[in-house]
Amino acid sequence: MDPIPFPGPARPALPWHRVVLLGFMAAGKSTLGPLLAHALGWTFLDGDAELARRSGVSVPEWFRRFGEGAFRQEEARLTAELCRRDELVLAPGGGWAVGPGVLESLPHGTALVWLRVSLEEAVRRATAEGTPRPLLAGPDPVLAARRLLAAREPYYARADFVIDVDGRTPVDLTMAILAWLKTSSS
Ligand code: S3P
Repeated sequence: MDPIPFPGPARPALPWHRVVLLGFMAAGKSTLGPLLAHALGWTFLDGDAELARRSGVSVPEWFRRFGEGAFRQEEARLTAELCRRDELVLAPGGGWAVGPGVLESLPHGTALVWLRVSLEEAVRRATAEGTPRPLLAGPDPVLAARRLLAAREPYYARADFVIDVDGRTPVDLTMAILAWLKTSSS
């Protein structure tokens, strides 16, 4: 990856304690999150990776062995636990935000940033990337994604900041989010 054109951990004074990245599958949460965390001098955690690390079970395996309901419960529990930390950039999976009460129970000082990706771009990336997405594994991933996105958009739209990601580089997006974080209020 190209070097990041902003000075490393500057620890700027921010009105936020943590950032949670919202967005559909393959919006770029796990790519952008580490860049943003680096720029802030904060820690980055990927919700799916953390869940797999702690349980020893990959996300597709959770779906296969225990079902989506069990995965959602564990995802919500773990994310709530992680969100008690300060100086954290967290990238939960794309379905986390629709869980009952999850957005409402985030602690004060949590900046919610929606990485808004188009349906076409999300499907293109999600089917090309190495990470398998069980919810798009059926015969018609475009239809599945369209339905999921329509159901999720009202939740993503509760974000404090929305940024369109199609056609923009991770570094460019990181700098835009950074600029917003510095000028916004919690
Ligand atoms: C999901 C998104 C995935 C992963 C799981 C379910 C979803 O994470 O949590 O496959 O329901 O949108 P990404 O958003 O990182 O792809």
